[in-house]
Amino acid sequence: MHIDHTSLAHLRQRTSAKWRAYPEDVIPAWVAEMDFALAEPIAAALHAAVDRSDTGYRWADEIPGALAEFAQAEWGWQVPIDNVIVLADVMSSIAQSLVHLTDPGSAVVINPPVYPPFFSTVEKVCSRTVREVPLTRIGAPGEERYRLDLDALERAFVDPAVQAYVLCSPHNPTGTVHTPDELGRVAELAAAHGVLVISDEIHAPLTLAGATHTPFLKVANDVNDLRAVAAVSASKTWNIPGLKCAQLVAGDVVLDALRDGIPIEATYGVGHFGVLGTLAAYRDGAPWRGEMLATLEDRRRFLFDSLEAMDGVRMTWPEASYLAWVHFDGLGEDPALEILDQAKIALNSGPAFGSPGAAHARINYATTREILESVIAGIGSVVVGHAS
Ligand SMILES: Cc1ncc(COP(=O)(O)O)c(C=O)c1O
Repeated sequence: MHIDHTSLAHLRQRTSAKWRAYPEDVIPAWVAEMDFALAEPIAAALHAAVDRSDTGYRWADEIPGALAEFAQAEWGWQVPIDNVIVLADVMSSIAQSLVHLTDPGSAVVINPPVYPPFFSTVEKVCSRTVREVPLTRIGAPGEERYRLDLDALERAFVDPAVQAYVLCSPHNPTGTVHTPDELGRVAELAAAHGVLVISDEIHAPLTLAGATHTPFLKVANDVNDLRAVAAVSASKTWNIPGLKCAQLVAGDVVLDALRDGIPIEATYGVGHFGVLGTLAAYRDGAPWRGEMLATLEDRRRFLFDSLEAMDGVRMTWPEASYLAWVHFDGLGEDPALEILDQAKIALNSGPAFGSPGAAHARINYATTREILESVIAGIGSVVVGHAS
């Protein structure tokens, strides 16, 4: 099995957003979608359903058990299946949690630079206000890492207007994997101040060699009175975000309120193919994931070394996932604009991730080595052209 034996010509036949947002002469390295071949067990499950014309409504009742087995094997996390609510996707799981567990107009802490829909979901979908507590940058140049600022989180949680905290674990776009100590402290602080923690763990099964993911609810288990949920999904890891199936795991303290609050209609967004893909991923997706993680580790090293060799470019070493957070000297507030214009490479604009994203761009490196070489060459031409 070779998950990355593909070409630009082949990939351009895809009709997903990644391959339709820009003209044919642009190489897309933006949205979090992989260029790899679908895992064989997922493809087989979907093909079989099509062959049966099996495209009606589908219950998600097998999903909690499949998640529980995967979480136990992967992280030693015991997920009580009665605490799992299956919803269409992670962002609607976060929104349902905020709507049913916090008051309208209350404040929600997030840690920029962070996945842009965190801002819009809090403000536009849920009518809450964003309270920014930026990640803190530590380490010498070339070895910079982003970490949670626990003191600043505590200062924010003291404010009674703050009712929730959306934690990105692992963090997108910096690839930070939070330590058990950090997560334990977050749990203590949140419980002390009555703050709901919503832990978005969509990137967790993408944790790369050298780091270990800790499920927040596993750490939080012993903390009395903690209000917490985790949102998980197979969609990012097995590249099936268009199929629609995510899981909201409720901590015991908030379970009844969530079960009472979330209307049955909210579960209608779960896709039949999302259920099939998720079951195949959790039950039979390990060999493909192993090859995919090894491939990402190769691409991470290749991209990091290539960018380090360029003057004025610094990539944060990602501990998880396939998104590289890169700082560019001298390419202005939004380097992705210049790189798109001059090199026809589409990256995500750093400023979309909040004000710490100025002078940054996010690069998706879940692609073939050949395509990544073209992305790097394009970036290099802009950087060199600017310096000369
Ligand atoms: C941190 C994070 N949360 C949520 C999502 C979106 O997930 P979903 O499509 O399940 O809403 C993404 C997508 O990249 C993400 O990076």
